Parts: sequence; C-alpha cells; structure tokens
Amino acid sequence: MDVLDEIKEFLGCETPDLWIQAALVNQDILLIDHAHCEKKAASTAMRLMFRYVDRIDLLNKMSRLAREELIHFEQVLAIMQDRGVVYAHMSPARYAGSLLKHVRTYEPGHLVDLLIVGALIEARSCERFAKLAPHLDDELAKFYRSLLKSEGRHYQDYLGLAEEYAGEPIGDRIELFREAEKELIESDDDEFRFHSGKPSFM
Ligand SMILES: [Fe+2]
Ligand SMILES: [Fe+2]
Repeated sequence: MDVLDEIKEFLGCETPDLWIQAALVNQDILLIDHAHCEKKAASTAMRLMFRYVDRIDLLNKMSRLAREELIHFEQVLAIMQDRGVVYAHMSPARYAGSLLKHVRTYEPGHLVDLLIVGALIEARSCERFAKLAPHLDDELAKFYRSLLKSEGRHYQDYLGLAEEYAGEPIGDRIELFREAEKELIESDDDEFRFHSGKPSFM
C-alpha cells in the first residue's frame, strides 16, 4: 500500500469538493497560507527538539523535518514571487489551535498527543495536495505532487514517534483526534485557509 492510501485510511474523511472549489478561486490565499504553514511546521518541529532533548530518535527526525519544511517554504515563496503574490500576515485557520485543545497536559501523554496532532496535520496536507493537483496549472500541480512524498514521510515519522514514546497502545488517542479533525474538515467555516473546513461562503 502506498503512503497516500495509508493516509486516506488514517484520516476520518476526505476533503469536501467545495473546499477544492474555494481553493481554486482563492489561489493567492492558498499560497500565502501554505507558506505560513511550512514555516509553522518547521517551527513546531524545532520546539519539540528544544523540549525533548533526551529523545534521540525525535531529535534526528524533527531536525530533518524542519530542514525540509524550510525548503518547502522557500519553494512556495519562489512560486509566489513568480506570480506576483505578495507575502503578508494572515490569521491562522482554526484547525491546529482546535486540535491542540485536546492535548493532555502531563507526560508522556503531552508528547504523544502532540505527535499524533503532527501526524494528522501532515496527513491532511498530503491528502489536500493530492486532491488539488489535478485541478491546478502544470507548475503548481508538479510542485504539489513533489510535496506529497515528503509530507507522507513526515506523517509516518510523527506516527512512529508517537508509538515509540507512548509505551502503551495509542489507538484510542488516535481515534479521539481523528474525530476532532474530521469535524473541523467537514463543518462549516467562513474563512478559507489551507486547513479550513467546508466553505460556508460558496
Ligand atoms: Fe512541508
Ligand atoms: Fe511536512
């Protein structure tokens, strides 16, 4: 089974078609928010490296991940520059903040939950790149398809680390976050972002 099939099985739902339509008419916002997401992904990975200095596997995987996210960031910036899209501040989607509300406050539950959230965010990004690609111009489609591979591996790295550090089965935690994520993807959202829900304005 390739990683995209694995991801589709992992996620609680598919991206709604209406979100794809909203993305196609909001391509500037898509690119600007995508750039912010890559930067945030690098920063999240580095935060984990500062907090969990004694977890060698985490340090290695997150270090590589952070470097890759920053390369993606530079690639999005270059595409934006080519297209005359100006990089600007943008309020984040409700998505990550809402997922993080369910993270446990004690260890190792805290770390395990952060890693599961990381896996979900990477998985959803991967699913959206794949679903968007056939609708985009050649350059953007090629770029998004190129991101599939690394974001797919990031999903596997986060999930593997969650299993490694939990010391117990994590199926029920995955299920809890999967349901919360599905709700965020399928419920109405009045804002368009890379990780926004079902557009209520379309
Ligand atoms: Fe990325
Ligand atoms: Fe990633």
